[in-house]
Amino acid sequence: MKKILVIGSSNVDVSIRATSIPKAGETVKGLSVSLNAGGKGANQAVACSRLGGNTGFITVLGSEGSSSLLPMFHESGIDCRGIDVLDGKQTGTAYITVDNDGKNTIVVIPGTNYDCSADYIKSKDYLIQESDIIVLQLEIPEEAVDYAIKRSAELGKTVILNPAPAPASLNPDWLSKIDYLTPNETELEKISGMSVSSVQEAKIAAQSLISKGVKNVIATLGGGGALLVSSSCSEQFTPPDIKVVDTTAAGDTFNGAVVVYLAEGKDISEAIVFANAAATLSVSRKGAQESIPSREETEKFLASLAKEGAI
Ligand code: RIB
Repeated sequence: MKKILVIGSSNVDVSIRATSIPKAGETVKGLSVSLNAGGKGANQAVACSRLGGNTGFITVLGSEGSSSLLPMFHESGIDCRGIDVLDGKQTGTAYITVDNDGKNTIVVIPGTNYDCSADYIKSKDYLIQESDIIVLQLEIPEEAVDYAIKRSAELGKTVILNPAPAPASLNPDWLSKIDYLTPNETELEKISGMSVSSVQEAKIAAQSLISKGVKNVIATLGGGGALLVSSSCSEQFTPPDIKVVDTTAAGDTFNGAVVVYLAEGKDISEAIVFANAAATLSVSRKGAQESIPSREETEKFLASLAKEGAI
């Protein structure tokens, strides 16, 4: 089994449930508020580890993050040598509003995620060297992601970039170094500069990124599942049906699951079917890291879907 290294953010999520997400200038009454373990990097590291991957994680936490987030990383079996705690500093915080349909909006305050700099990653170079698959998102400084992508490509590692939150455009130097780019519809629209309001448009937008050097695009399309596009194929994978409770971390769960199957040497199509099942289970539960299923649960769910003829 190949070794996975996730490099990215950790956040304390302040999750508010409300019947609807307020529009600009509107005040709505909330239903509940809770504190959860989150952050795109941390969610993806937990997903990789919980779903059976040999996973390391590079991140930086503030004081309270060491008590509220670190235990989950240890519990999930993550290699924590890449994690530093900066006493007296504030851990990243995300303010999430979830509506009755499970949809969300998120505002992130970076906190110590912005201490996860290129120099910090350089100080953990041994972790990049000993890993095979490097997984990145965009909640740490862009110069840090730039360094990590270039260093990983130089060492011949497989690079996976989940371009979230989406920048206005992707650094053109990165494109030929990315093996798998995994945007959702909104992110795909932003980084391709093209409209993505149908599967056909998503395919055209993904192909535009392939023509610029990205090897594979896996676009997550919410209820439409996932679309895999490379220079030789384009295939949509529809997800199983489930009652959606909270979509927070569904994309992170999907990414983690794809990475684990790739680390096990499985085919990308098989990886996406597994990832759709894991992400479906995660949207049936509240929160970020606590919503991520185990390998056993995901395999049981897949087996039940196969029995019903649903996949
Ligand atoms: O992808 C979901 C995550 O985005 C949340 O856990 C929140 O922390 C934000 O980073």
